[in-house]
Amino acid sequence: MASSPLLLLLSLLSLVALSLSQQTQTSTERQTLLQIKDDWDNPVALASWSNSTSSSYCNWTGVTCSTDGSVTKLVLSTENITGDIPPSICQLKSLSHLDLSYNEIPGSFPPFLSNCSNLQYLDLSNNWFVGELPSNIDMVLPNITYFCLSDNNFTGEIPTSIGKMTQLQSLWLDNNLFNGTMPRFISNLTNLLQLALAWNSFTPGQLPEEYGSLTNLTYMFIAKANLEGEIPDSFIKLTQLVQFDLSQNSLKGSIPSGIWSFSNLKYLYLYDNNLTGEITINNPFGANSLVEIDLTKNQLTGSIPKSFGTLQNLSILFLSYNQFSGEIPEGIGLLPKLTDLRLFYNNLTGTLPQELGKHSPLWNLEVFNNTLSGAIPANICYNGSFTSLSVQNNIMTGSIPQSLGNCPHLNNLQVDNNRFTGEVPAGVWQVQNLTTVVMSNNMLSGELPSSLPSNLTRLEIVNNRFSGNLPSYSSLILVFKAGGNNFTGDIPSNLSTGMPLLQTLDLSENSISGEIPSSIGSLQSLSMLNLSHNKISGEIPASIGSMLVLTSLDLSSNKLSGEIPSALGNVKFNFLNLSSNDLSGKIPSGIDSTAYDESFLLNPGLCSSVSINGVSSCRSKDGISHGLRNLFIALGVIILVIIVIFALCLMRDYHRKKDASDPAMWKLTSFHRLDFTENSIVRGMTKENLVGSGGSGQVYRVSVSTRAGDVVAVKNIYSKGKLGTKLEREFDSEVKILGSIRHSNIVKLLCCISSPDSKLLVYEYMENSSLDKWLHGKSNFTVGSTEAPIGSLDWPTRLQIAIGAARGLYYMHHECAPPIVHRDVKSSNILLDSEFNAKIADFGLARLLMKPDEPETVSAVAGSFGYMAPG
Ligand SMILES: *[C@@H]1O[C@H](CO)[C@@H](O)[C@H](O)[C@H]1NC(C)=O
Ligand SMILES: *[C@@H]1O[C@H](CO)[C@@H](O)[C@H](O)[C@H]1NC(C)=O
Ligand SMILES: *[C@@H]1O[C@H](CO)[C@@H](O)[C@H](O)[C@H]1NC(C)=O
Ligand SMILES: *[C@@H]1O[C@H](CO)[C@@H](O)[C@H](O)[C@H]1NC(C)=O
Ligand SMILES: *[C@@H]1O[C@H](CO)[C@@H](O)[C@H](O)[C@H]1NC(C)=O
Ligand SMILES: *[C@@H]1O[C@H](CO)[C@@H](O)[C@H](O)[C@H]1NC(C)=O
Ligand SMILES: *[C@@H]1O[C@H](CO)[C@@H](O)[C@H](O)[C@H]1NC(C)=O
Ligand SMILES: *[C@@H]1O[C@H](CO)[C@@H](O)[C@H](O)[C@H]1NC(C)=O
Ligand SMILES: *[C@@H]1O[C@H](CO)[C@@H](O)[C@H](O)[C@H]1NC(C)=O
Ligand SMILES: *[C@@H]1O[C@H](CO)[C@@H](O)[C@H](O)[C@H]1NC(C)=O
Repeated sequence: MASSPLLLLLSLLSLVALSLSQQTQTSTERQTLLQIKDDWDNPVALASWSNSTSSSYCNWTGVTCSTDGSVTKLVLSTENITGDIPPSICQLKSLSHLDLSYNEIPGSFPPFLSNCSNLQYLDLSNNWFVGELPSNIDMVLPNITYFCLSDNNFTGEIPTSIGKMTQLQSLWLDNNLFNGTMPRFISNLTNLLQLALAWNSFTPGQLPEEYGSLTNLTYMFIAKANLEGEIPDSFIKLTQLVQFDLSQNSLKGSIPSGIWSFSNLKYLYLYDNNLTGEITINNPFGANSLVEIDLTKNQLTGSIPKSFGTLQNLSILFLSYNQFSGEIPEGIGLLPKLTDLRLFYNNLTGTLPQELGKHSPLWNLEVFNNTLSGAIPANICYNGSFTSLSVQNNIMTGSIPQSLGNCPHLNNLQVDNNRFTGEVPAGVWQVQNLTTVVMSNNMLSGELPSSLPSNLTRLEIVNNRFSGNLPSYSSLILVFKAGGNNFTGDIPSNLSTGMPLLQTLDLSENSISGEIPSSIGSLQSLSMLNLSHNKISGEIPASIGSMLVLTSLDLSSNKLSGEIPSALGNVKFNFLNLSSNDLSGKIPSGIDSTAYDESFLLNPGLCSSVSINGVSSCRSKDGISHGLRNLFIALGVIILVIIVIFALCLMRDYHRKKDASDPAMWKLTSFHRLDFTENSIVRGMTKENLVGSGGSGQVYRVSVSTRAGDVVAVKNIYSKGKLGTKLEREFDSEVKILGSIRHSNIVKLLCCISSPDSKLLVYEYMENSSLDKWLHGKSNFTVGSTEAPIGSLDWPTRLQIAIGAARGLYYMHHECAPPIVHRDVKSSNILLDSEFNAKIADFGLARLLMKPDEPETVSAVAGSFGYMAPG
């Protein structure tokens, strides 16, 4: 080791130079960070970035330095940053990793990131970015390997230059507003490991078959991206896939069978497409291994080679909402890692793989709405992890397996609408985690247990063969439906204290006797009570009148006697049925209404003071009182006077009337192709066809052709005298705008018929009237007997209605030019057709025709038709 003084000097000098440059470097990095903080308006989260603190800037929030003190990494995720990205950020010359995800950073993509020449990792996800990506994105980010823009509002085409960023390993563009075509050129990115394009509104198109060349891909996420056509066969080359998600597209055809041999595949999501064909999972232990399953013993026979095979890692398989047919392959039951299997809403037949649950920590099985037969796999809870079984709506047989009674985490048991028989294993009723048990519509028998699982909120066993007495439970259950069984004995007297939170109680169609306990009134959450078709006697407890949320009460076909308590008149029933009992006396006011036309049939002792179907009038019973008789005389006189005046008017106006009914006087403006004339409309406006009337006019249900089903609703709008010409013009132009709207969630205005002193608006007829009636069942309207009985809506229907109404409004607000504002959205303006599709009505046009001081008294009957644009 020869060392000369010169060399020593030189190395000393270079050391000094180095430390000097390091010094200046560190002081500029600190300055830059402070500058960035300042440019960002000093966010609270960057409080540690302070000149005053003694700690090194390398210890500041989110900052990582290399050994020489240059900043290489900035991680400012979820720091409440709301300002634009400052250009000063690229003065951090060594910055290679920038994560600004989960902030509220606005603006367009920052092109100056090209100055961050060492950037390899960029995460801008979950911010407020908008606009298009720069077309030269490959030049802006030349060294990028991880590029994440998920959850922003980027729009437009994905730039083709991305195809040149071949160093990319992760590309996340999901959950944006990209609306161009599916980027084919991404297939050039052969180093890609992760690709996410999901949740963008690409123009509908095929999945590029070129993606088959992305053979290193482990993660593909292209859900909800308007994909059409088939899954390309080339995809069988993507053998490294761990997660494969093409759910919620419109893919059809079958799954390329090669996919079933991806040995790394853990998560397969293809639900909600139109895929067909069979699920062809082969024997996961290898195609060549001989494994036979002896179904009679529910056991594997033969040896299982564990060393090789396919789908050894598959944990989640979601293929629901497709049209898969054929049988579920037995092989699925052998997958060693399977935890969650969802195959609901397909056309699957045959039995469930009988080994399901035996070989994997399965926790969830959802196969409802198929045509599956056979039994629930006996060992479904073999590993003790099983939590939820949903096999409803199949044609399965056998009994509920004993093993479910020894399944500590079982939480949900839905087996309704099958053909299950036998008794429910006693152990099931002791699984304390159970919250939902739905077993309706089977042939299950036996008695109910003496106590219920402590977390049970819903028990539905309607239409089975359960028998015995109803036990006195102490339970926080919300829904108890046990109708259509063979239960006997009394209603438990402790019902209200034992099950205080009950919302729904259905004990109908059993052989229950005794009286209704009067304490039932303290069930203050009960909204539905059905005790019909039993042998219940005694009086209706007055306490029912104090049940605040009760909307549906069915006590029909029992042996109830006495008067209907007047308190019942205070309850706002959607549905009330007290028919076929021995009730007597006067129907209490409040429910003594034609709205409850079908509610009191076959109670010979009852009487009504209005004329309700099948109920005799109280007058004829009690005799007409003195006062009433006077009233009748007075009424008679008045009617006589009216007739005389009417006759006089008729004679005087004969000529004019003739003119008015002359079809030539009616002017028809149509907005759709019509196969009826104004004549058939005017002819149909008879008293029998009147379905509603209110402040602004009457609504008629008019049949316009001999074919059944061609029915329209006609609204006759009163106009007080002639309209001013200005008003008339306004009305006409509004009608034209609204007549031109064609949207499936807006009531179709077919045409407008006007005469000098009348306006007829002709709409499509809505079979199911308004949402309002289904929700609140107004008791103070008078309707014709054509009215459908109001029942209650199930939740899927409610959701469908809500979505429909929202679509209608969205269309009016965003897709009409000019936009139209409703100004009076309420349930009575949401009409329902025969399939319960929601259509928005009453944009208030009728109001144009009324004087401003006229009260709006259009009743909620059969819809208050009419439209109006924003004023
Ligand atoms: C931070 O401190 C340095 C010296 O330690 C000083 O030169 C600089 O002006 C200070 N910057 C601010 C913004 O106070
Ligand atoms: C960062 O802070 C830790 C203690 O919090 C300290 O030990 C370390 O020396 C600091 N590093 C720098 C570079 O200042
Ligand atoms: C961001 O804001 C939320 C709500 O104001 C607050 O709870 C959270 O602590 C803030 N986070 C930071 C890092 O300041
Ligand atoms: C992003 O788009 C959504 C839906 O179009 C919109 O609701 C949201 O306000 C937009 N956000 C920004 C920051 O533009
Ligand atoms: C980044 O890319 C440029 C130009 O392509 C190249 O000169 C430079 O070496 C790259 N830097 C890194 C760290 O890869
Ligand atoms: C994509 O969205 C932008 C912004 O909303 C719009 O201007 C453009 O016309 C859309 N392009 C296509 C092809 O729909
Ligand atoms: C994709 O790669 C091919 C061959 O390397 C090349 O010709 C083509 O231009 C590339 N496409 C894009 C969009 O970069
Ligand atoms: C896939 O990755 C390996 C290394 O993990 C690499 O050698 C190979 O070139 C990659 N394949 C492609 C097509 O880029
Ligand atoms: C499936 O196909 C049917 C008929 O071809 C179509 O009505 C339906 O919308 C499709 N569903 C999806 C999710 O694409
Ligand atoms: C699946 O079943 C439904 C209802 O049973 C039927 O309408 C449909 O055509 C079937 N689809 C296929 C592909 O078999």
